[in-house]
Amino acid sequence: MLEIARNMEEQSAKDYNKWANECSANSDSISKQLFEGLVADEERHYAQYDAELDNIARFGANYLALQSIERSKAASTAPPVK
Ligand SMILES: [Fe+2]
Repeated sequence: MLEIARNMEEQSAKDYNKWANECSANSDSISKQLFEGLVADEERHYAQYDAELDNIARFGANYLALQSIERSKAASTAPPVK
């Protein structure tokens, strides 16, 4: 599932980049900036999925348990919600 998600992010970044270039070719700088922002978002998402796949490959099935423990620690030390 993570590999599919990572591939989708990669394809989305390519598509948005293509549209950014199309906007540039038509002197539409505002739309170009919008698509460039989307490219940056998709590249960040790609990197997140890539890091998750790398962690699973390195730490195996225990990685998900480690994530759960970290979330519990973070929740227990977070300031109370007002
Ligand atoms: Fe995304």
